[in-house]
Amino acid sequence: MGMGHVVFHVERIDDLLWFYQDLLGFRLSDFCVRPFKAYFFHLNPRHHSLALIETGRRGIHHVMMEVMNLDDVGQAYDIAQAEPGRIGTTLGRHTNDFMTSFYARTPDSFMVEYGWGGRAIEPATWQAQEMHHGPSLWGHDRTWLPPEQLAEARAFRARVAAEGMREPVQVMAGNYQVAP
Ligand SMILES: [Fe+2]
Repeated sequence: MGMGHVVFHVERIDDLLWFYQDLLGFRLSDFCVRPFKAYFFHLNPRHHSLALIETGRRGIHHVMMEVMNLDDVGQAYDIAQAEPGRIGTTLGRHTNDFMTSFYARTPDSFMVEYGWGGRAIEPATWQAQEMHHGPSLWGHDRTWLPPEQLAEARAFRARVAAEGMREPVQVMAGNYQVAP
């Protein structure tokens, strides 16, 4: 399933779909149009190995690495929080791949997403659909968004919480104990 995923800034998603889907063989996992337009693609059971965000820019938005233990994410978050301005997106959990993660700024303009607990999908039967609940179940405050989109993203999360959206944790064998 590879080490994680890459997300690109793009000017227009519709102009690029032929390249990633028809030429390279990525398949659509799901997509959202609000609070920003983003399309997620898979090549294997990882929910997405590639995503495109329509920001009007070009370049790498972030690279995600998935680690074995939730504590790895928390301990890295401690390190990142110790540096002013290092956190690009606060700790949170995604609605589509269930990843618990945060995003750190790098010396370049892209971010590194450090995550744990991503889901596996069944590519043969997966049906792509529009996401109506925004990108995160909780957290993931995106300090890089324009103010109106930041406010919209916060309103999405409040609705997600009020509507009771909760997802089971995704764990690998040997990485959990069942509580009584
Ligand atoms: Fe990501």
